[in-house]
Amino acid sequence: MPATRARRLRRYLTCEPRYFDVRYSINPWMDEHAPVDPELARDQWATLVRTYRDHGHTVETITPVPGLPDMVFAANSALVLGGRVFGSRFRAPQRQPESAAYELWFKDAGFDVHEPEGVCEGEGDLVPVGPHLLAGTGFRTQVGAHHEVQEFFGVPTVTLRLTDPLFYHLDTALFALDDGLDGGPANVAYYPDAFSPGSRAVLEQLFPDAVLATRADALAFGLNSVSDGRHVFIAAQADDLAGQLARRGYVPVPVDLSELRKAGGGIKCCTQEIRP
Ligand code: ARG
Repeated sequence: MPATRARRLRRYLTCEPRYFDVRYSINPWMDEHAPVDPELARDQWATLVRTYRDHGHTVETITPVPGLPDMVFAANSALVLGGRVFGSRFRAPQRQPESAAYELWFKDAGFDVHEPEGVCEGEGDLVPVGPHLLAGTGFRTQVGAHHEVQEFFGVPTVTLRLTDPLFYHLDTALFALDDGLDGGPANVAYYPDAFSPGSRAVLEQLFPDAVLATRADALAFGLNSVSDGRHVFIAAQADDLAGQLARRGYVPVPVDLSELRKAGGGIKCCTQEIRP
């Protein structure tokens, strides 16, 4: 283990939860009858953005659109690799208009956007790690979109099957500790029980040194974390996982997004990475 792990500075796209609410239920976390505190959601989100900036990262924002309460979950809008944007196609009709809103932002920022044919929820289900693109399916992104994404980027794409509806997006069950995109070693943290037996075996082969999270930490959205290679921006409630990361030389930076969890989202969900 290196004495000091090196961070790489990142560019993130985020969306203020100005119209955030839980008005429909498309995952088991969402209860339309439980009240949401919009001010608290905005404060927690602002703290996340400030924390990224305090750690040197560039954070950009897209203007939120009224009537799209889940638009705060920017990670679902695309996968950006090597400056190329693979856009989104949402499964739930309520979220479908988000794709066009984000596409406009990317176009204004100078990117072409490829529109997927199958359901594809961006970084929610697509995680680049080392030479592979890990691709979740089972609840949202379709396997056909995994093929499309492999064709588009030319990166070997590994399908992983999610089996527990509480962990309906890959980024609720796994995150890249080291994405290896700078040529260094790649590693992930994940919650094994969120995956089918075959997918677990694949993860064991690809990442023998992975950090394994407990169910409690997974339920606290501890795997919906963002790592810059040194700092891990992690749910404040994921204690055991934060301890494991610290013992491996990472610096856990706790951020509390409890209000956004009412929609089934956490830190990573709110963070779209723009990889140059
Ligand atoms: N309510 C949103 C949905 O169910 C939450 C999305 C969370 N995003 C994520 N990247 N996991 O689609």
